[in-house]
Amino acid sequence: MVRVAYRGGDGEVRASAGGRPKCGGSTGKSVIHRQPTSQFRPVMSTDMEQRHLGRTGLRVSRIGLGTLTWGRDTDEHDAADLLKTFWEAGGTLVDTADAYGDGEAEYLLGRLIDGLVPRRDLVISTKAGSVPDPERRVDGSRGHLLAALDASLGRLGTDYVDLWHLHVYDPETPLEESLQALDLAVSSGRARYAAVSNVSGWQLAKAATWQLAAPGVRTRLAGTQMEYSLLQRGVEREVLPAALDLGVGLLPSSPLGRGVLTGKYRTATPPDSRGASEHFAPFVAPYLDDTASRIVDAVTTAADGLAVTPLHVALAWIRDRPGVAAPVIGARNAQQLTAALSVEALNLPDEICRALDDVSAPVHRYPDHDWSTL
Ligand SMILES: NC(=O)c1ccc[n+]([C@@H]2O[C@H](COP(=O)([O-])OP(=O)(O)OC[C@H]3O[C@@H](n4cnc5c(N)ncnc54)[C@H](OP(=O)(O)O)[C@@H]3O)[C@@H](O)[C@H]2O)c1
Repeated sequence: MVRVAYRGGDGEVRASAGGRPKCGGSTGKSVIHRQPTSQFRPVMSTDMEQRHLGRTGLRVSRIGLGTLTWGRDTDEHDAADLLKTFWEAGGTLVDTADAYGDGEAEYLLGRLIDGLVPRRDLVISTKAGSVPDPERRVDGSRGHLLAALDASLGRLGTDYVDLWHLHVYDPETPLEESLQALDLAVSSGRARYAAVSNVSGWQLAKAATWQLAAPGVRTRLAGTQMEYSLLQRGVEREVLPAALDLGVGLLPSSPLGRGVLTGKYRTATPPDSRGASEHFAPFVAPYLDDTASRIVDAVTTAADGLAVTPLHVALAWIRDRPGVAAPVIGARNAQQLTAALSVEALNLPDEICRALDDVSAPVHRYPDHDWSTL
């Protein structure tokens, strides 16, 4: 049985706060010290560390704020609270997509920028390529992508996005064509940096290598946004090694296992959770099986030992994995977000990282490992 309680040398259970991260991933140490304007009250005592995204000059807060639910489940009032809370804590990276809420998420974010927080303080990330056509679902053609970017800028009310993702790989469009849309976006100033999302290892390696082959003409990929958490470690097989080798930063989506790693589903489905919502229940369901429960139990044991919450343990673990720039979290309201952002003060002890690693490790054998045993 894997035990995940941690005791200090004096026998007391304690959390490790401050100092060098123990899970192996952090690089930079710069922090954003936000001075709230008089109309905003500070809600956090910590400031957020900033990291470079991949091998680029773009710096992002090491926790990002996602907007998957904005304009559909999250109304303007809650969205404003979330954005303000995030900004006051030193957060910069706000992630959206043209597909979220059929454009409503971008529209809502656009309405809040400047009136609530200064545009220059945000690293706005959006995506294109996912389409609502049940026949196709993905359109990575140059024409569609560039038109989608213009529509995103219109909804966001800004001249540029800081980071623009190809949302998903399109097997029916030559990859070079999709990537050329990223180059055109950057060369025209409509996007500052380019990224991909939901790619396999070979797709990422092909795209990143292609982009690196013509310096000054093609833009290097800054990042890839992939689902990654203690409940979903598939990227460790091929995507993560490729990203590390090619200098592409990882932006984990759904880092709290779509909410399950908070431990809220351990005894029942809370009525105010995604699991109880008709359209979101199928999104959560894959992580409510026995395998996931064992991992959530281990996370909870670790949290008890450290006197923090399971959310903190799960978030600190993913934040400090090698290659990770910034997990992009979701939150139903500002209260949830404030609780999540207080992870800034927590570094997990090595023994906790190792125990969580063991309990959640996917089995990767040949050809990733075990070559010498053949
Ligand atoms: N590239 C892609 O294809 C892709 C795909 C998915 C997501 N994303 C991005 O990743 C972002 C995050 O995804 P996600 O929302 O699934 O991530 P997540 O962070 O794994 O889950 C968010 C959910 O966790 C629960 N939660 C958060 N803080 C909590 C707290 N303090 N206490 C209790 N519960 C808490 C809430 O669930 P309840 O609402 O149930 O309370 C919240 O909605 C998205 O917004 C989007 O920007 C990208």
